[in-house]
Amino acid sequence: MNNGLALTPQMGWNSWNHFQCNINETLIKQTADAMVSSGLSAIGYKYINIDDCWGELKRDSQGNFVAKASTFPSGIKALSDYVHSKGLKLGIYSDAGTFTCSQTMPGSLGHEEQDAKTFASWGIDYLKYDNCANTGTSPKERYPKMSKALINSGRSIFFSLCEWGQEDPATWAGDIGNSWRTTGDIQDNWKSMTMIADQNDRWASYAKPGSWNDPDMLEVGNGGMTKEEYRSHFSIWALAKAPLLIGCDLRSMDKVTFELLSNKEVIAVNQDKLGIQGKKIKKDGDLEVWAGPLSKKRVAVILWNRGSLAANITARWVEIGLESSAIVNARDLWAHSTHSRVKTQLSALVEPHACKMFTLTRRKA
Ligand code: GLA
Repeated sequence: MNNGLALTPQMGWNSWNHFQCNINETLIKQTADAMVSSGLSAIGYKYINIDDCWGELKRDSQGNFVAKASTFPSGIKALSDYVHSKGLKLGIYSDAGTFTCSQTMPGSLGHEEQDAKTFASWGIDYLKYDNCANTGTSPKERYPKMSKALINSGRSIFFSLCEWGQEDPATWAGDIGNSWRTTGDIQDNWKSMTMIADQNDRWASYAKPGSWNDPDMLEVGNGGMTKEEYRSHFSIWALAKAPLLIGCDLRSMDKVTFELLSNKEVIAVNQDKLGIQGKKIKKDGDLEVWAGPLSKKRVAVILWNRGSLAANITARWVEIGLESSAIVNARDLWAHSTHSRVKTQLSALVEPHACKMFTLTRRKA
């Protein structure tokens, strides 16, 4: 979407994966505090996104959204002032239907202009727009209305479609949204994460600066996967130019979680300005190679072992878009070490459910 936003995939945090409906203004403020004090904001995580359950069940007498008095007593404007004072941006959630998915608050269907103006007046920077209670009409009718309303709202607001891949949004949402979900909801386990990675991969060719495929938010740090599984999750999301929206409790994040989420070299692949989604280029049983081009004629590669035995995985230059004569430096983005003058192919032993991730830079000779 041509609104000047999302030139690289969005980075931030969202309340849903860890907290579901158990949210309140103190949590949001403390999360903003933790985003800054942990150092994560300084490496690019900017959005603090409130998901479902922030509003009262009923609109006020003028038909305006109302923040839930018991959990957001100071109102959303005060919260956005706070989040902005930390140098961060605030996101909110609504639904292209009559109710949101939790059924605890109204959706925006038929109220698009009014709600977009409300969000703008509150200083909202990002809208995630869900698809429950949608009256059975096509998302192609419902989502453009909110897109237009946001453009008319007088504020620059990121538009994140969340209609779970209904009617293949990659094929039509690029003009109206900054990102679109390509799949159902992620769960905090290996099976869900790997399935979603594959489903999202189908749409790789549609991603570009301003408009990204969204395989849903990160589960890193929520406890349902091993360290190596979370490393795979984060690496594949980074390569696939997916939104990097943290989904754990930032206030109590452990060292391992921080180490995964804060890897600047992996994040640099995600935020590379060329903006081409990396994809699965080879599969031999459970052994996979994912790769994609980066700016300055570099190439990002992931050797991913989805099986239960350690194995060697090889990526040949011709398979990943390098000429066979190329001599490269291979930077291992997790080991933070460089293999110099690598020729023809890259090969490594990869542990079960683990991956290795590299950036390959051509040498002159
Ligand atoms: C849907 C969305 C989730 C989350 C919930 C909230 O399931 O896909 O990401 O926003 O609704 O109820």
